[in-house]
Amino acid sequence: MEAGEVLVRWPEEGVARVPFQVFSDREIYEREQQRIFRGPVWQFLCIEQDIPQPGDVVTSWMGETPVIVARDHDGAIHAMVNRCAHKGALVALKSRDSVKHLTCVYHAWSYRLDGSLRSIAFQKGVNGKGGMPEDFDVSAHRLQPVRVQTFCGLVFGTLSDETPPLGEFLGPRMSAFIERNYGGIVLSDRKWHHISYSKRATFNLDKEYLTAEVHSAKYGAKHGDSALEGPELLDAWEEFDDGITHSIQTVFPNVVFQFTLNSLAIRFFVPKGVDKTELMWIFLGYERDTPEQSAMRIMQSNLTGAAGLVALEDGCINEFVQRGTVGG
Ligand code: FES
Repeated sequence: MEAGEVLVRWPEEGVARVPFQVFSDREIYEREQQRIFRGPVWQFLCIEQDIPQPGDVVTSWMGETPVIVARDHDGAIHAMVNRCAHKGALVALKSRDSVKHLTCVYHAWSYRLDGSLRSIAFQKGVNGKGGMPEDFDVSAHRLQPVRVQTFCGLVFGTLSDETPPLGEFLGPRMSAFIERNYGGIVLSDRKWHHISYSKRATFNLDKEYLTAEVHSAKYGAKHGDSALEGPELLDAWEEFDDGITHSIQTVFPNVVFQFTLNSLAIRFFVPKGVDKTELMWIFLGYERDTPEQSAMRIMQSNLTGAAGLVALEDGCINEFVQRGTVGG
């Protein structure tokens, strides 16, 4: 594959006519990994609340690249590629952990929480035999660093030095909406959070959404064959006084902020090959929630949660598209 080589001819009708080839072409997928996931974009890694204490570590991904996010002993957040500088083994094996330092299980190279190498086992060998060369310099080796920036408790990373500052990448409109909806709540203070972004304006501008039935199924007590046996699934309260009850916004390339009824979630995507994607969900509520409100949020996750009725419908349809477009 040559740099700049055209892999797909886009139809002249414009961006709304996506060639099926892009969903299953291996070369396009590999170029996405290189130019997007290892390129100059910010990607969601985790929330600060995942690593509240010094020594806390979580694993994440940037595309297919495995990543470690760590809270250092001074409170700073670092991210690094989860690949030992020795022979490339995964260093962090658990999805979350609390450690003093990171040690590779293969040959026990040990790293500080900023990814720098602190020591290696048997550097001088055993009984004068083996070991590393005399001029081996521990400080010349480390886990590959990932640039990190946080915004409103969200941790983003990029592998490129050319990625613009996160605020610029998100843009003033998305940044303002995320900030506005926090209402002073900060994740790292162990508060829960809410993110929403006005979709109402989008709806009003787009007649298609006013008239079309986007999903085939309707749920509720009054929808005939689709009536719910447990209508409490739709129990909700008006949480904000701006009247917005549904808002799902995507930040390219791997994260979606969901606010539907009172179901607050972050979804992020991990590509696992040309025909496989893992979708992670983080569900949130406020610390101030009453027990009834917490129960309602949990109940609603059966609608738009990882195994919720609506989410399952979406997942099923997406799989139909993936299977139908193979070879397109
Ligand atoms: S691969 Fe990690 S110490 Fe050898």
